[in-house]
Amino acid sequence: MGAALSQHELTTLPDQPPVVVQTTGLSKAYRTGFWLNQQITSLKDCSLTIRQGETFGLLGPNGAGKTTLLKILLGIVRPTAGSAMLLGHPLGDSAVKQRIGYLPENAYFYDFLTGWEFLQYTAGLFGLSRAAQQRRITELLDLVGLPQAAAKKKQLRQYSKGMLQRVGMAQALMNDPDVVFLDEPMSGLDPTGRFQVREIILALKREGKTIFFNSHILSDVEVICDRIAILDQGELVAIGSLDDLLGTADQYVVKGRGGRIAELEPWLDQITVQGDLWQGHIKGDPYGFTQQISLAGGHLVTLQQARPTLEEFFIAQIRQRQAGDKLKEGEEIRKVRR
Ligand SMILES: Nc1ncnc2c1ncn2[C@@H]1O[C@H](COP(=O)(O)OP(=O)(O)O)[C@@H](O)[C@H]1O
Ligand SMILES: [Mg+2]
Repeated sequence: MGAALSQHELTTLPDQPPVVVQTTGLSKAYRTGFWLNQQITSLKDCSLTIRQGETFGLLGPNGAGKTTLLKILLGIVRPTAGSAMLLGHPLGDSAVKQRIGYLPENAYFYDFLTGWEFLQYTAGLFGLSRAAQQRRITELLDLVGLPQAAAKKKQLRQYSKGMLQRVGMAQALMNDPDVVFLDEPMSGLDPTGRFQVREIILALKREGKTIFFNSHILSDVEVICDRIAILDQGELVAIGSLDDLLGTADQYVVKGRGGRIAELEPWLDQITVQGDLWQGHIKGDPYGFTQQISLAGGHLVTLQQARPTLEEFFIAQIRQRQAGDKLKEGEEIRKVRR
């Protein structure tokens, strides 16, 4: 008799990679205040699915609940409601711990250890032999771009933020994890440092690792991620691939001047006309259309991709919610006054 299918297998469709992270209605309310009689809701009813090999970026302003979600997945914080599975097992499963890596937001390293000693300590926790440690640490230092000499000579308290982030990254990868959780891996780094961390993440992605990272640096996310989610005040407000959220990259907005509009109209959507200036979204081939403009006696002014940047999208989402909140507040006030 075949064994019953595990939850992990059940959620695996034939042509889709297996589910690595699955959360259902996760919520977290922290008790605060001197008497612990106040509550802060850091996460509300969060459901998401991440599949093997995905690079998933969780975006949100400070205080949105990103770290809270990560800590719940890592079993550091207990959810108030909801449930989650990691690599097909309930949270906190010790076999799963061997297969994940974690770079915390504020990695409190052991200040007086050298980078090398700290990595040896981490390797020891994973039970690597002395010889294996030597090999693995050398490999990881190479990957994160930290010179061996610096790792061996300097104590962590003498490291720059960029160097600490690299050691943190090496530490997170010690056990060659299948899933890597990175909390704000680029924050506090200069442009070169950010570029290098980005390269490391892309290298991990090429190796087929599943990467879940928190960030508020949108340009990095735009380059690295397959899928993103936006978290605001504990709530998921958008989730999907960049194409899902922003539209595909092959749509263009054209602005032109003059010409016989009637001849151009069939090529355009969302046309607006102001004096002899006109604008619209091109249907079909943009280059064919630019030729059509001169045939119709007009001139091209600008041709731009219609897709907003992630930053524009992000700001619009957050503003929309704030406007919604104001509307609700207004309704409350009206109710009270009535
Ligand atoms: N241990 C805690 N006790 C009380 N409140 C907390 C705790 N940790 C986080 N919070 C609150 O939860 C909210 C979300 O925090 P966090 O998950 O760190 O957000 P992010 O990582 O998106 O900046 C914030 O309002 C924060 O103050
Ligand atoms: Mg955080």
